[in-house]
Amino acid sequence: MPRDLLAPGLAGYLDSLVPPRHPVLAEMEAEAARTGFPIIGPATGHLCYLLARAIGARRVFELGSGFGYSTAWFAKAVRENGGGTVHHVVWDQALSDSARTYLTAMDLADIVEFRTGEAVATLRDTAGPFDLIFNDIDKAGYPASLEVIAAKLRPGSLLLVDNLLWSGRVLDPADRTPDTEGVRTLTRLVGADPHWISSVIPVRDGLMVAYRSGIA
Ligand SMILES: C[S@@+](CC[C@H](N)C(=O)[O-])C[C@H]1O[C@@H](n2cnc3c(N)ncnc32)[C@H](O)[C@@H]1O
Repeated sequence: MPRDLLAPGLAGYLDSLVPPRHPVLAEMEAEAARTGFPIIGPATGHLCYLLARAIGARRVFELGSGFGYSTAWFAKAVRENGGGTVHHVVWDQALSDSARTYLTAMDLADIVEFRTGEAVATLRDTAGPFDLIFNDIDKAGYPASLEVIAAKLRPGSLLLVDNLLWSGRVLDPADRTPDTEGVRTLTRLVGADPHWISSVIPVRDGLMVAYRSGIA
């Protein structure tokens, strides 16, 4: 698990500010804590939900969905926005099955398309455009995913990318691992491209929020 990037206690404080949530979300948080599975957690989940609500997202695509925790936040937003589809994509069938069980228990499964396979290839093969794309795949794959993502977003849509602070490893010049370099490269590419207006929000492990401006 990433170490606490904020002053000690602040990450927990931000999580504590998230309003009471569906008991199934709390169950998923307990599973993640028990197994060490890297979910986005309450504060980032709630921020994703807020952003999806704010733009009225009805077509959402998630790359690297795990057992459905982040999916549940997006599906709740899409339901409240009037309905639509959240594509849940992960390469493990067991995680996909587990996500279906959780989302069914939350009465949100009808909003979700459960897909198994490599996430970027799946997005390439899916008709767009999307209102919001969330990227949480293996970090070495971040740079190559960007071109596919950009082609599936319309002006006025949002790209959210998790782990852009990467437990602080982005600051270590000796760390040239493919994952750390993947995070750095994506950050640089989005920041330098006038089609995006972006910011990295230092919540948990860093969430990039990038607005597809349509202005070149
Ligand atoms: C960080 S976890 C996802 C957590 C999830 N977003 C959440 O917060 O609930 C990433 C998951 O996506 C899978 N994954 C990573 N890269 C992938 C790829 N390129 N295609 C499909 N699945 C991928 C991993 O095996 C893992 O199960």
